[in-house]
Amino acid sequence: MAISNYKVEPLFAEPYFRADISHAISEEQRDFIKNLKMIVNRTNLISENLYIFDEPELESIKTAVQEALDIYATEVMGITQTLFVTQSWSLINHPNVGMHGHSHSNSLVSGSLYFCEMPTPTASMVFDKHKAYQQLELNPEKDKQNIYNTPLNIVTPRANEIILFSSGLQHFVEPNGSSEPRYSIAFNSFIKGKLGSYRDVSELTLR
Ligand SMILES: [Fe+2]
Repeated sequence: MAISNYKVEPLFAEPYFRADISHAISEEQRDFIKNLKMIVNRTNLISENLYIFDEPELESIKTAVQEALDIYATEVMGITQTLFVTQSWSLINHPNVGMHGHSHSNSLVSGSLYFCEMPTPTASMVFDKHKAYQQLELNPEKDKQNIYNTPLNIVTPRANEIILFSSGLQHFVEPNGSSEPRYSIAFNSFIKGKLGSYRDVSELTLR
């Protein structure tokens, strides 16, 4: 081959955020969440209450989630506007139950919170690079797979961890391969603050 020297450099990248918030979660709160009334959601169970962070019992968790969103806005997105939680709900995946592929509408950053011990083996979240149907499946060979060409990336959650990601990212949850229920919380967020410019008539103030 004539070309022996070449460079491949990143143009853009997709982040996700993870942090331990065990300091903000008590045993009473774990019981409170586990005892929320659940209803059937396609295959798994979802809380009837879809604004669980508004419950006074979960105030310390809501504060820690807000802190994580503040870090994400400032340090990851590099913006001055504020992210705030819109809806928040709990989920239970019983053995053999996962969650179909989906993304989160009318939200900018979504998150999961693994508020208690995770069963072993822990069913992972799987993120899909593609947002739409792929007519051509041009997947890399296993030994050539890297951050540029991988179609999927797997994130295995740990107990007490919050995970944040762009709401438009397609993701699914592997079936629960353990004999215990897999508990989690999910939430959406949106932005408030000022966007655009008054003089450019692009100003938008979201309160
Ligand atoms: Fe989701």
